[in-house]
Amino acid sequence: MSTPNDASSASPVLELDDITVGYGGVPAVRGLSASVRAGEILALLGPNGAGKTTTLLATVGALPLMSGSVTALGEPIDHHIERNARRGVTLVPDTRGLFHKLSVSDNLRLAKRKNGTDLDTVFGYFPKLKTMRSRQCGNLSGGEQQMLALAKALLARPRVLLIDEMSLGLSPVAVQDLLPRLRAFADEHQMAVVLVEQHIDLALGIADSAIVLHHGRVALSASAADLRSRRDMVEAAYFGRTIEEQAS
Ligand SMILES: Nc1ncnc2c1ncn2[C@@H]1O[C@H](COP(=O)(O)OP(=O)(O)OP(=O)(O)O)[C@@H](O)[C@H]1O
Ligand SMILES: [Mg+2]
Repeated sequence: MSTPNDASSASPVLELDDITVGYGGVPAVRGLSASVRAGEILALLGPNGAGKTTTLLATVGALPLMSGSVTALGEPIDHHIERNARRGVTLVPDTRGLFHKLSVSDNLRLAKRKNGTDLDTVFGYFPKLKTMRSRQCGNLSGGEQQMLALAKALLARPRVLLIDEMSLGLSPVAVQDLLPRLRAFADEHQMAVVLVEQHIDLALGIADSAIVLHHGRVALSASAADLRSRRDMVEAAYFGRTIEEQAS
């Protein structure tokens, strides 16, 4: 298994600069800044309703910013979601992005892109999928379907991958199986990842950095290594205590 990256001197491939974004003129996320370099994984954590999905939607251009900016691969993200996706900024949908009546192989073939990742390379990360390639997708377990959803996203060779609760409804064992493969792919293909994940320890185990959101604000932003040894700070942030409050 690969280990999280050391700090790299490369410039960020994804930068969120003081973004405020919400619905109907009401902010759901306020003043969020974050940056992710090639090959790095940022874990975006926080309780229900904290603003994680909103942040991901704004990052791919699906929600207009009220203020601030998002820059990916040196260019500002705009509301042309498809263009952003073609540039390599991809949001992994949950398993609803799969065709349940089709085989594993056909699902993967439909996701193949010119200049994308080679199918054998993806099978290298998910050998189980190769053995199941003629199975009907709808008959796979939840964990196997998530594996297929992730494999499909990787076939497009994204430069910036955003993952929203890939593990929803999965056991920790299934997540423990998936996340190291994501880590290895990010390392080997220098893919930047923003990972929204409810299994906090598993996410911190493979991430380089982490942000805890609470009520739309950043309650904690630190390296994943620091947070692995300070789980008390993560828990406090889930309850909305800021770093300053925790220090006092
Ligand atoms: N379409 C919408 N219209 C209005 N408010 C919304 C909409 N979607 C989300 N919100 C609100 O924005 C806030 C942030 O929601 P968001 O979905 O980003 O949270 P989340 O951190 O992803 O939560 P969860 O862990 O439950 O998925 C919440 O208060 C939510 O009710
Ligand atoms: Mg969400």
